[in-house]
Amino acid sequence: MTELRQLVGKRVVMTGGAANIGRATAQLLALHGAHLVIGDIDTAGAAETISLITATGGTASFVETDVTDETAMKNLIDTAADRLGGLDVGFFNAGLQRSGPVTDFEVDEWDALFRVNPRHCFLGAKHITPHLQGGGAIVFTASLAAIKGGPGMTGYSASKGAIVGFSKALAAELAPSRIRVNTICPGWIDTPFNQPAIDFMGGRESQESAVRQVVPLGRQGSPDEIAGGVLFLASDAASYMTGQILVIDGGVS
Ligand SMILES: NC(=O)c1ccc[n+]([C@@H]2O[C@H](COP(=O)([O-])OP(=O)(O)OC[C@H]3O[C@@H](n4cnc5c(N)ncnc54)[C@H](O)[C@@H]3O)[C@@H](O)[C@H]2O)c1
Repeated sequence: MTELRQLVGKRVVMTGGAANIGRATAQLLALHGAHLVIGDIDTAGAAETISLITATGGTASFVETDVTDETAMKNLIDTAADRLGGLDVGFFNAGLQRSGPVTDFEVDEWDALFRVNPRHCFLGAKHITPHLQGGGAIVFTASLAAIKGGPGMTGYSASKGAIVGFSKALAAELAPSRIRVNTICPGWIDTPFNQPAIDFMGGRESQESAVRQVVPLGRQGSPDEIAGGVLFLASDAASYMTGQILVIDGGVS
């Protein structure tokens, strides 16, 4: 019988797998035969992700990780390589959102965004590359906010834009080693992550009304609708694709 699963036996390390987009993606990659090690700061959420995956016959384990800590990031990646006997894919998805007008935005908030969003992608790339010497795939989660601005989003947009720039240079640098690097840019996905933006917009009703106006498909997306994009970028279906952003935004951009 033809094998329809796209990641059979692929060894994946990922961050931000405790909920929402990361959890949905971890579940989909596992269904497609990947073996996963998940790093997150949220131990309870990650434990739930692991039990959802193992309940359906998948392979996944957890390493408690604060992605702002280089030692912890290296430990996550090296532990994943030890547990899985090597690595084929890195998915760096952990993220933080803060919202507010630029005049009120605190330097500490700006720095927190950069410490989690682009800096942890850099740390992931730095420490996974030595494990991908036979080739592999790196996928980062940026955002529609990296390429399309909105009020109150200067810090978040800047931090996600940095991921896009980083990923393009990294793709050029790692192409000779047959390591592909691509970035997914979700639009409005309905998760509690957006609460700072929702508050800035004046509450849930205002946000939903804005979504109806600006999203051609007329609704927010779901985590599952992002997971399919990550599966594609991580798999051999994207074997001739590197240095790209894949925008999944209901048509906004
Ligand atoms: N929800 C959206 O509309 C949307 C849109 C565009 C991009 N994104 C991006 O998608 C990714 C996932 O977002 P989500 O909506 O699933 O939100 P989420 O809050 O459920 O996911 C973020 C994950 O990152 C983890 N994390 C945060 N800080 C961490 C740290 N210091 N160390 C380790 N883990 C840490 C959280 O515990 C969580 O599991 C994020 O990178 C986010 O920026 C989301």
